[in-house]
Order: sequence, then structure tokens, then C-alpha cells
Amino acid sequence: MLEIQNLQATVADKPILKGLSLTINAGEIHAIMGPNGAGKSTLGYTLGGRPGYEVTGGTATLDGADLFELEPHERAAAGLFLGFQYPVEIPGVSFVQFLRESANAQRKGRGEAPLSGGEFLKLAKEKAGLLRMDMDMLKRPVNVGFSGGEKKRAEMVQMGILDPKIAILDETDSGLDIDALRICGEGINAIMRKPDKAVLLITHYQRLLDYVKPDFVHVLAGGRIVKSGGPELALELEEHGYEAVAA
Ligand SMILES: Nc1ncnc2c1ncn2[C@@H]1O[C@H](COP(=O)(O)OP(=O)(O)O)[C@@H](O)[C@H]1O
Ligand SMILES: [Mg+2]
Repeated sequence: MLEIQNLQATVADKPILKGLSLTINAGEIHAIMGPNGAGKSTLGYTLGGRPGYEVTGGTATLDGADLFELEPHERAAAGLFLGFQYPVEIPGVSFVQFLRESANAQRKGRGEAPLSGGEFLKLAKEKAGLLRMDMDMLKRPVNVGFSGGEKKRAEMVQMGILDPKIAILDETDSGLDIDALRICGEGINAIMRKPDKAVLLITHYQRLLDYVKPDFVHVLAGGRIVKSGGPELALELEEHGYEAVAA
């Protein structure tokens, strides 16, 4: 599904990713862990096409399509979803409005008809229910005044509505209390744990992985994957730290 080969990327002319290779097949959940500043968020932003993140070498394909040939919105329409470490607030735009616009923009990008008001509302209610999110909450401006946990749950509602092929979730567990962590974890499983989908979880801690069990765990350090293993690698990292495990 997602095939990254020898990816090199710079941020503000500074080399951050230095030959990163990773293959994620349909039906798999991968976790990337690594110390602060390792380049984890840079990987997500580079794949998503965020301005300022420049690819200087290597390739990334999604179901065979060259991601770097596509504009960010085309990558999204092709089925790539990027969850942000810090979700943005958009005053003046309600969440439902935002969700409907983004869903229909992607459908348009795929040559599909837009969802009617009724169809959209049914879908939104279903996905909000999965994340225990009140519809009244989604009538408020995007993320304005939302707690950290509410922002992440709302982002998972968005993921449910957009129904991506692959989700790259950057520290979805940051700022979550125990209940929100469980709800988000269960939401990710309900939405993404399917034979035709895949997830890349970027996380510092083992705790999200108690709910969303990864098939593979990778350590990112110095802009490359320096170690890969199964779920036990995450436990090992938690116990002994990055330096001891990935040295
Ligand atoms: N906009 C930027 N300008 C300059 N350096 C940046 C910028 N964004 C990230 N970096 C640098 O890139 C490196 C990797 O950052 P990041 O990908 O956010 O790491 P991680 O998510 O693994 O903590 C860090 O050294 C960081 O300071
Ligand atoms: Mg980061």
C-alpha cells in the first residue's frame, strides 16, 4: 500500500530525513517511535505535502501512485489521511461545515457525487458516536475551546468520515487522559483496522499501543529507521529507553 524508499527530506535547508525506507501493506498497523527531534513529524508532513518540507531524494508511492507528483489535496483524495500532533483551530467555521466541505472536496477529487445534507448528517452521527462525541460539539467552530482530548476525538471523527486508505497519526495520544485515550484507540480500531486499510502511528509512548496493537514497531533516529520489530519492541523501548535499544 505505502512504499517509502530511501526518502531524504530537508526542513529550512536542514537535512532531517536521511534515507528512510518503510513498507506498509494493507491490513497492517505500524508504529514509529523515536526520540524528540528524530524526524517523526517531518515524515508525516513530507508524505502529506506540507509546504516547507522539501523532498531531496527517494520515493514514496501509495498503491503505486507517486505521492510526490500529487498536490496535498490530491494525496488526500487518493486516500492518505494525516492526523496532526497539534490540530488547528478555525474560528468562524463550524466543525460540521468543515467536515462536509472536506468530505465533498475529496469525493469531487475522486469523481464521486457530493453527499447530500441528509447523507452527510447520517455519516457524521455514526462516526461521532464511535468517538462518543456529541453532535452539538461539532456545531461549534473547529477546535475552538476544545480540550486536547476533544480535538483528537474530533480529528478521529474526521478520519471516519473521510474513510482513508492509510492514516498517519502523529502523537494522537498526546494530551489525552485515560478515558480519551481508550476512546480514541477504539475509534482508530473501528475505523481503520480493516483488511484494505493501514495505519502508521507515530507515538512516544507504549500506552496507545495497548489499545491499537501494532503488527510492526520501528525506531526512527537520526532521520532513518534504525530498528524494526514486533510489538515487543515498544515494550523494550519503554523499559530501557531509545539509547539502549537502538544504539
Ligand atoms: N520549521 C522548521 N524549521 C527548522 N527546523 C525544523 C522545523 N521543523 C522541524 N525542524 C527540525 O527538524 C528536526 C525534526 O523535527 P520533527 O520531525 O518535528 O521531530 P519529532 O517529531 O521526531 O520530534 C528537529 O531538529 C527540528 O528542530
Ligand atoms: Mg513530532
